Amino acid sequence: MVQVISSLCAEGGHSPIAYSSGQKALGLMLSHAPQLIISDVRMEGVSGLEVLKAAKANLPGVPVILVTGSKQLELTVEAIRAGASDYILKPFKVDELKSAIERALENASHSAALPQAVAALKAGTGQREPMRFESIIGQSARMREVFDLVEKVANTDSTILILGESGTGKELIARALHFKSARREHPFVAINCSALPENLLESELFGHKKGAFTGAVQDKIGLFEEAEGGTIFLDEINSMAPLLQTKLLRVLQERMVRRVGDNGNVPIHVRVLAATNEPLYEKMKTGAFRQDLYYRLAVIPVEMPSLRDRQDDIPLLVEHFLRKHTRAGVHENPLQIEENALRTLCAYRWPGNVRELENAMERACALCDNGVVRTKDLPPQVVRAENVPAGGFGGGAPVPVVSEAVLPVGATLDEYISGQERRFIEETIRLNKGVREKAAQMLGISTATLYRKLDADRKLQTRKGTDS
Ligand SMILES: Nc1ncnc2c1ncn2[C@@H]1O[C@H](COP(=O)(O)OP(=O)(O)OP(=O)(O)O)[C@@H](O)[C@H]1O
Ligand SMILES: [Mg+2]
Repeated sequence: MVQVISSLCAEGGHSPIAYSSGQKALGLMLSHAPQLIISDVRMEGVSGLEVLKAAKANLPGVPVILVTGSKQLELTVEAIRAGASDYILKPFKVDELKSAIERALENASHSAALPQAVAALKAGTGQREPMRFESIIGQSARMREVFDLVEKVANTDSTILILGESGTGKELIARALHFKSARREHPFVAINCSALPENLLESELFGHKKGAFTGAVQDKIGLFEEAEGGTIFLDEINSMAPLLQTKLLRVLQERMVRRVGDNGNVPIHVRVLAATNEPLYEKMKTGAFRQDLYYRLAVIPVEMPSLRDRQDDIPLLVEHFLRKHTRAGVHENPLQIEENALRTLCAYRWPGNVRELENAMERACALCDNGVVRTKDLPPQVVRAENVPAGGFGGGAPVPVVSEAVLPVGATLDEYISGQERRFIEETIRLNKGVREKAAQMLGISTATLYRKLDADRKLQTRKGTDS
């Protein structure tokens, strides 16, 4: 039965994780944070009812479907009372199960409890979120190529380098690679290499011994060890410092880690995925990235297309985000979008890719009246860009209109551009009520980059101040 249901789920595009006993499921379901649980009612040891109760307590909002025999009706009634979202009577038809699954997921995605539950889990379990392939939206030729490649390589142990601009879905693909592999029952651990200074990143990755440095008050295992049996995702690998690159290379070659301050090595069995938002090949050519590490990481490159290279996917994504932001109890009907507004969204060049679109849609869904998104609900830069002749800056950033009256005569090109950039950044920060993390997301840059730009700007201002 477990096998039949698993393969039906897989056929439906889900990534099932099968357990042959309730006991095992109880132990592991928390760390997998599934989107749906299907359990038999009568099992040896831990019963389906106990699985249900544990799910209700620890994974609120996650629907549970119970599979029961006709002789277990009493139990079934009890299960429904305890919060099962559906049950299926054995023997059942394939379609019955399939529609029960679709129904449960549909209802769950419309209830407000689920995102909260997932957010809580993310916070508590180091972002071990479940992955369904169909939550990666895209039907364009470019995305199909990506999906095909992911299907092919997910279940290998090859190191994979995911390339793509900010916000193109690199992390989603990394998760898909993990949850579509045989490693899915082991941890998926993600770390952003640009988020920490070099020495902290080192101890985060490899762990440390007590007393290895000031502040190392106890032994700590690193993420490589934490991911044992599973996958580690090294995000923004392009920003890794040279010395650490050397250490990482050694780990990849020897499949051993050495904790900071330790003499011994610990063997690891971890699959490595990495992502870069800069062309890493070029960094390697200029010597900023180690050549041998590059070739070891880029065994299989997966290139994420930018959103402007798959514009035909925009309506689909818009539809997806409208559905995502429709709240049962708040909106009577699913949120909708006006033709004109959709056209404006399709015409924009999305320098921050899907993330920028997602933020624009979140904002629009919050601002719109009567459940219909109109042009007035879209972010100013998106609307403004439409009124400006095509062309402009290659990256597709909103093109500033320069009238002769304000031509910055006397400024160098650099000064002019950084002035425009600063205004754009400030405007976006204001739009996000001063939350810089959100502004960075909307701009399609990392928070670190945003701070750097603001900082560089301030220094420039101060220098100018002292000069004059
Ligand atoms: N194809 C897609 N379908 C649905 N949502 C997507 C898709 N691609 C990206 N997203 C959403 O856009 C946001 C950015 O995706 P993700 O974090 O995977 O991008 P990234 O390439 O890792 O970006 P960065 O380089 O800025 O870290 C996420 O909220 C993700 O859910
Ligand atoms: Mg990312």
